[in-house]
Amino acid sequence: MPASTWWKHGIVYQIYPRSFQDSNGDGVGDLRGIASRLDYLADLGIDAVWISPIYPSPMADFGYDVADYCGIHPLFGTMADFDHLIAEVHRRGLKLILDFVPNHSSDQHPWFVESRSSRSNPKRDWYIWRDPKPDGSPPNNWVSNFGGSAWQFDEASGQYYYHAFLREQPDLNWRNPELREAMHDVLRFWLDKGVDGFRVDVIWHLIKDAEFRDNPPNPAWHPGRPEIESLLQVYSNDQEEVHEVIAGMRRVLDDYQDRVLIGEIYLPTERLVTYYGKDLSGAHLPFNFQLIQTAWNARAIARLVDEYEAALPAGGWPNWVLGNHDQPRIAARIGAEQARVAAMLLLTLRGTPTMYYGDEIGLARVEIPPERVQDPWEKNEPGLGFNRDPARTPMQWDGSGHAGFSTAEPWLPLAPDHAATNVAALAADPRSILSLYRQLLALRRNTRALAIGTYRAVQTDGPVFAFSRMYGSDQALVVLNLSGEQTTATLGSAWDGLRVRLSTHLDRFGEEVGSEIALRPNEGVVLG
Ligand code: NOJ
Repeated sequence: MPASTWWKHGIVYQIYPRSFQDSNGDGVGDLRGIASRLDYLADLGIDAVWISPIYPSPMADFGYDVADYCGIHPLFGTMADFDHLIAEVHRRGLKLILDFVPNHSSDQHPWFVESRSSRSNPKRDWYIWRDPKPDGSPPNNWVSNFGGSAWQFDEASGQYYYHAFLREQPDLNWRNPELREAMHDVLRFWLDKGVDGFRVDVIWHLIKDAEFRDNPPNPAWHPGRPEIESLLQVYSNDQEEVHEVIAGMRRVLDDYQDRVLIGEIYLPTERLVTYYGKDLSGAHLPFNFQLIQTAWNARAIARLVDEYEAALPAGGWPNWVLGNHDQPRIAARIGAEQARVAAMLLLTLRGTPTMYYGDEIGLARVEIPPERVQDPWEKNEPGLGFNRDPARTPMQWDGSGHAGFSTAEPWLPLAPDHAATNVAALAADPRSILSLYRQLLALRRNTRALAIGTYRAVQTDGPVFAFSRMYGSDQALVVLNLSGEQTTATLGSAWDGLRVRLSTHLDRFGEEVGSEIALRPNEGVVLG
């Protein structure tokens, strides 16, 4: 395949380690478990595995509260297990991407324990400490992403510390040069072990307003929406100086060969693209979550793709994401039928696709009984629909007990239909969503136009979104029916004579198409 960098033509697959494969019978997934499923991943046709945090952690936010940046949580295994995993990943020609969580640590991290021990401790400034207002109230009006004030008072030292997430996740101070250096050493530790890159957690949060000004109210907010949205996040994130911090991380990676820096960023397109950095000195791939956030119809999607393509800086490589561990499952959001169209869209657009484990078997929302809720956000702001557990449930492998995920009761419930919705059953069905994913992945791998070709919107109307991909004489035309109604797409004579290379219904292969094509409800096709 193409002589372009692996993270441009490759496909990233996100694993939520607690839920992929348990190897030691405790109901929670682990590193040995992941290693035992690498043949599945290689065979599926992905290129890189990104694993959510596996570091020592009190698990207040399931690993996004790190207590040691250079260790492995015993729940997931040992450093030897990690070394084994990376060797096995590389042996199969795959890449391994780690989650790096630099905005905040756990309150149990030795750095924070030191920092809170006294105002004069050398690590005091590694975190964000501020005096109370004269009336004793928090330094400003900033709200935590999980609800409530973002400031926690520390009785012993008489100051507040800032936490953009849980109070167990104090924010680190990236304006402090020693902290930066310590974090760069963390990156080097893993790079020296051979990891192929990082997905950087909430990268747009790393720098806050130097004066800690109040955020203005959001006039569009109403109760029932997350409390964090009651204020416009003008001063608490996306500050100009963050780009220098990211460029610093990038320089660390650039000392190694072929490593990728992916940034988690929830911002509108025009802000998002600034994270490629000046002269592309920032993130290689600022995560583009628009397919997660958009209304699911042809016009909205056509518009957002065009706007994104137009907004990219020269040389900036696009990327697309359909789901992750913080968002409702795609199959739950748009339904099982459209989830197949979404798969075709994700894997034919221009730019690196990131898949979320389980989407390839059509895993949908799994209801969590109240007594089994795990997500701290749900616990903080209950009943409003913010629970992230339903999208974090165990991977379903086969028809055996606990769907082959574990020999014990899993930490989160399986989908009730796991006897049918599992890898083994779907692999045996040539028309299943899993078979579709496999074929899409293979087609993308074997078609330069799809992997690295240009993108051009093709004018259509009604519920159809169509675009072409070109690389030299290699071309593909993608035509997607974003509705549950049958429709006919008029393509124009320029496309006469193409043949169906793949339909989401996994039939019609080789059918010749004229200037029009009839599409069944929820059908997408790749022509070439
Ligand atoms: C984004 C992560 O994806 C999410 O799971 C986590 O809760 C927050 N960042 C805080 O680290």
